[in-house]
Amino acid sequence: MSLSGKKILVGVTASIAAYKTILLTRLLVKAGAEVKIIMTPAAENFVSRLVLSTLSKNPVVSALATDGSWSNHVMLGRWADVFIVAPLSCNTLAKMATGLCDNMLLATYLSATCPIVVAPAMDEDMWYHETTSKNLSFLSRHGKHILKVASGELASGLNGMGRMMEPEDIISWVETFFGQQLLLVGKKVLITAGPTYEPIDPVRFIGNHSSGLMGIEIARACSQLGAQVTLVLGPTSLPVSDNVVTIKVNTAEEMFAVCQQHFGANDIAIMTAAVADYRPENVASEKIKKDDSEFTIRMVRNPDILAWAGAQKRANQLVVGFALETENEVANAKAKLDKKSADLIVLNSLRDVEAGFGKQTNKVSLITPSNVVEWPTNSKAVIADQLAKYIAEMPSKEHVNTAHSA
Ligand code: PMT
Repeated sequence: MSLSGKKILVGVTASIAAYKTILLTRLLVKAGAEVKIIMTPAAENFVSRLVLSTLSKNPVVSALATDGSWSNHVMLGRWADVFIVAPLSCNTLAKMATGLCDNMLLATYLSATCPIVVAPAMDEDMWYHETTSKNLSFLSRHGKHILKVASGELASGLNGMGRMMEPEDIISWVETFFGQQLLLVGKKVLITAGPTYEPIDPVRFIGNHSSGLMGIEIARACSQLGAQVTLVLGPTSLPVSDNVVTIKVNTAEEMFAVCQQHFGANDIAIMTAAVADYRPENVASEKIKKDDSEFTIRMVRNPDILAWAGAQKRANQLVVGFALETENEVANAKAKLDKKSADLIVLNSLRDVEAGFGKQTNKVSLITPSNVVEWPTNSKAVIADQLAKYIAEMPSKEHVNTAHSA
């Protein structure tokens, strides 16, 4: 596979293995990629800026500001289709895992919206040190891709684990990665996310604790797999990836109206929103004043957007719902799968401390008409990546729930 048109940002840190970045840069450019390079200041002791800028055909960046002008780390991280840090030293790894930001490479890392891949390189004792494992597993849990190290001769003269992956193998990894990214090319995905706010009067509403993160991450993951994504997003201040078309709504009825308008044009619908099942029957036009009497709000049912989509879906459309349960989780989720004619229900339980509303992590089980699969706890970013891939590869006939299809 060629890397033609791919924008690849390479980060170089201070390690003897930086000599391999020269060949990596050459191979990336040869494969058709546009390459830009950032070095940490200490990396300049290990590899020449002149060599890397000549091979990448772009100036190498290492300072946050030069000659009175500021280097735009935010735009570099947004420009790239992937950011590969190779070699990754122990020092930069520790800074990445703790959010330190004392150079251009780290500032770019902290603001990057593209996928991030790291190729560690260190001596065996450092590789096996408990802080290295802890830092790498932190990065992995937060969706960063960790390339394997090899065993062999090390800079110390010892033999053991810690050699950076060879440039040819990194190229193969990147090609596979972009190959996988094409899984949803040509597909349109409609996603709902966040809470809904059901107004009581101009200043009060009934809502819930959804932050929107789960759905926003799924939108990002589907878009990275090449899909055209429309995100119908309830009230939240969380940022959304640039490539996702976002339609902001407040109430369940607004969310439903947008979904009705867009569902027919989409191949896949993924409903992660925590939609209010009820809304106040009457919304006061002025702020309700308190007095000494009790106050009752009469509630009426909101439309069930997932059930509507399940009932509408054509044979070539996939409908995925979420279920947030507090008891009899699997049985309740299976009932939702059936009642709402979904092809897949992603179950999360409020009984799991690492799952649900407002958390960075989630723990989900995938419920299809034929199967229940439990996934381990992971960051919502990683779960979104895995879920987008799972949905893209869902064998259409085996799993598809046609029980109530039109
Ligand atoms: O936003 P976060 O803070 O990241 O939290 C993520 C989450 C916990 C909100 C998410 O993982 C989740 O579980 N979303 C579904 C929450 C929910 O409302 O579950 P439910 O069991 O009540 O609804 C079942 C399904 O029907 C959901 O797909 C829901 O979007 C859909 N539904 C529900 C009611 C309704 N009126 N319309 C719907 O479409």
